[in-house]
Amino acid sequence: MPTTSVFGAQWGDEGKGKLIDLMARDADMIVRYQGGANAGHTVVVGGEKYVLHLIPSGILHPGKVNVIGNGVAVDPLKFLEEVEGLRARGQQVDGAGLKLSATAHVIFEHHRLIDQLSERWRGEGRIGTTGRGIGPCYADKAARTGLRVGDLLDNAYCRTRLRAALAEKNALIERVHGERPLDLDGQLDRYTALAERLRPFVCDTGALVRSAARAGKRILFEGAQGAMLDIDGGTYPFVTSSNTGANGIAAGASFPARAIERVIGIAKAYCTRVGEGPFPTEQVNATGERIRKQGNEYGSTTGRPRRCGWFDAVAVRYALELSGADGLIVTNLDVLSGFPSIQVAMRYRHAGVERRDWPADLPRFDGVEPVYQTFPGWNEDLTRVRKYADLPAAARTYVEALEREVGTPIQMLSVGPEREQVIPRGS
Ligand code: IMP
Repeated sequence: MPTTSVFGAQWGDEGKGKLIDLMARDADMIVRYQGGANAGHTVVVGGEKYVLHLIPSGILHPGKVNVIGNGVAVDPLKFLEEVEGLRARGQQVDGAGLKLSATAHVIFEHHRLIDQLSERWRGEGRIGTTGRGIGPCYADKAARTGLRVGDLLDNAYCRTRLRAALAEKNALIERVHGERPLDLDGQLDRYTALAERLRPFVCDTGALVRSAARAGKRILFEGAQGAMLDIDGGTYPFVTSSNTGANGIAAGASFPARAIERVIGIAKAYCTRVGEGPFPTEQVNATGERIRKQGNEYGSTTGRPRRCGWFDAVAVRYALELSGADGLIVTNLDVLSGFPSIQVAMRYRHAGVERRDWPADLPRFDGVEPVYQTFPGWNEDLTRVRKYADLPAAARTYVEALEREVGTPIQMLSVGPEREQVIPRGS
């Protein structure tokens, strides 16, 4: 396996956790480079379900090095909770197999609180965030008022910086949002105490990843969320606050972009989104409900019902192009069994004009309508199919149409949550 990037090519929740877990078998190092505990990567191993929010999915494979890079927004409470949760289930988690960047930014209690208060303030204009403090943490990073993991380890420095930051945040919490301010000393004591528990994991992860690449190690970069939630390329402002595709690796893992050798996008055979914002192929009807029910489409981080709709080839084509994908993996194909017909948005229509390209030139999605092609459905249960040739003809026709339309080879299909429920292309 060369140095590989795996990213979500829709609005997140494409089933990356399972695929990354599968690919982690052939990797020496698994690296997260953006996002935070807003992600929820579900992995099922031997009937046991694990939901990982911050720690790379490779942690379920003994002997691998798992890295949380500098571009990740790290909530120390969530990190330690996840470490303890894995240990309680018999997984070995220590500083040899899990590395945390000294320059990753820290999510504090005030970030979480302000995330939730800002959403309340926005009212109808809310983003529908996960409330995990992601946006406010990245905002402080850009404003140069944030604290990094390494700062936490320096007690005196941490107290000075956190005291200054919190004084300003408390003014915001109290005077703008009308809520009770956070107890300054309590917060200082809490986070400086947590720092000691982080210490065994902390290092310069950028140097570690680059030196692993020089030594010919197999590195897997694990994207969280999806391309349409990318802060630059996505449906702004209804996005997350990081670069979610291969475009985020250079900055978020301190790894040279030109050293990424293989790029794989992951997309569901249909489409979902959580939170607010444009979703051209959304089905607010019985079809959408059926997809939600058959696909069990509820958020793994927040439990929210996901918005459901048809595959959007315009969006996926754009996502794959942005990250320069060599291949696509299509997940949840089994969920579409039983639909009499299946639709795919091949193009958009706007102001009477049909277009194949993503409308990044339009400030909003008002008036954008998908132009669908309809495909016949199939009734067979796909969850036990392991060979491409054994798929019903209608399912193969569907897969091949998606492939043609997005212009990237589909390398694998996933037909259930277990590791072995995959169909390699060409089988
Ligand atoms: P935030 O990342 O919590 O700020 O949320 C911003 C937007 O990204 C919201 O629409 C969230 O629902 C969405 N989002 C964040 N993380 C995920 C994820 O892992 N899967 C799907 N959507 C996500």
